[in-house]
Amino acid sequence: MQALYTQLSFELQRFDAKPQKIETLFIGGGTPSTVLPELYAPIFELLKPYLQENAEITTEANPNSATKAWLEGMKNLGVNRVSFGVQSFNAQKLKALNRAHNPQQAKDAIHYAKELGYKHLSLDLIYNYQGDSKALLLNDIEEAFSLPIDHISAYELTIEDGTKFSTTPEVRQEDEDLAFFVTDEIKKRGFKSYEISNFGTYQSKHNKGYWEIKDYIGAGAGAVGFLKDTRYYPQTDIGAYVENPLNIREEHLTSDELLTERIFLGLRSTVGIEKSHLSNKMIQKADILCKEKKLLCDDTHYHNDNFFLSDELALYILG
Ligand SMILES: C[S@@+](CC[C@H](N)C(=O)[O-])C[C@H]1O[C@@H](n2cnc3c(N)ncnc32)[C@H](O)[C@@H]1O
Repeated sequence: MQALYTQLSFELQRFDAKPQKIETLFIGGGTPSTVLPELYAPIFELLKPYLQENAEITTEANPNSATKAWLEGMKNLGVNRVSFGVQSFNAQKLKALNRAHNPQQAKDAIHYAKELGYKHLSLDLIYNYQGDSKALLLNDIEEAFSLPIDHISAYELTIEDGTKFSTTPEVRQEDEDLAFFVTDEIKKRGFKSYEISNFGTYQSKHNKGYWEIKDYIGAGAGAVGFLKDTRYYPQTDIGAYVENPLNIREEHLTSDELLTERIFLGLRSTVGIEKSHLSNKMIQKADILCKEKKLLCDDTHYHNDNFFLSDELALYILG
């Protein structure tokens, strides 16, 4: 925690953080629920003056380590949103995904959090893992909606380098119908889709902040930060990070690179694209898509209401 504290103190200066200006705090990556709440206390002490009164403070949690005591301890620190890494309510699938919890532990942890009075509860599901069927995913969605949650993130399995599945990429199932099915079944139950993977009666400010290209401090091994046009990469290796948390690589993004990200992220979510960011040529292209009813446009923004088309639309505007 000392390395994290050192880097966070440094970043608060780099970002010229002002009192009560930080809108969201997200504790994630790794498994936050394996760390005792009292170990986070110095971090919360450090951040307290900078956090807005109604800041959204999220922690990720794995159901097998999110005990009632842990959830209570995190709530007492000020956490008001928990995102449970449930992934599925199918015991065989959880084993195949190498998750340490079982479906009952997931349900218990979410009920504990509700009893403790957490304002916002979310759970993650993963789909298009080999063997996934509409029946299996429907059961996952029905189980999810039987719980006191106001947000679901449903992620299509991706195969990332250096992760468990990178040696067995065939575990990813290519089934677009399942993507449409998952989205429809979640929306049918009253959760608004505000991004291709995110749904809720509550929309996470932290998630939206990324898609709005807002500045954010990243603190911790591998926790990327972003300020204006620069991305900051602390070391990913925990040992190296603890040894020197201020050894941070910088990546300067060109205005074209930033605009490209703005367009892709804006069309994948309800954020949309602000016209003032676009060149005349891009506006002409976007207006064609409006005429073809593939984009919604108002005086200041273009919006996409079919997130599955987002990359295609972005490439057309950028082309
Ligand atoms: C992105 S964060 C969750 C943020 C959270 N949904 C929120 O709204 O605050 C971590 C989640 O990423 C998802 N994830 C991890 N590895 C993945 C992979 N290879 N493919 C797809 N999703 C993955 C898991 O569902 C994991 O719980």
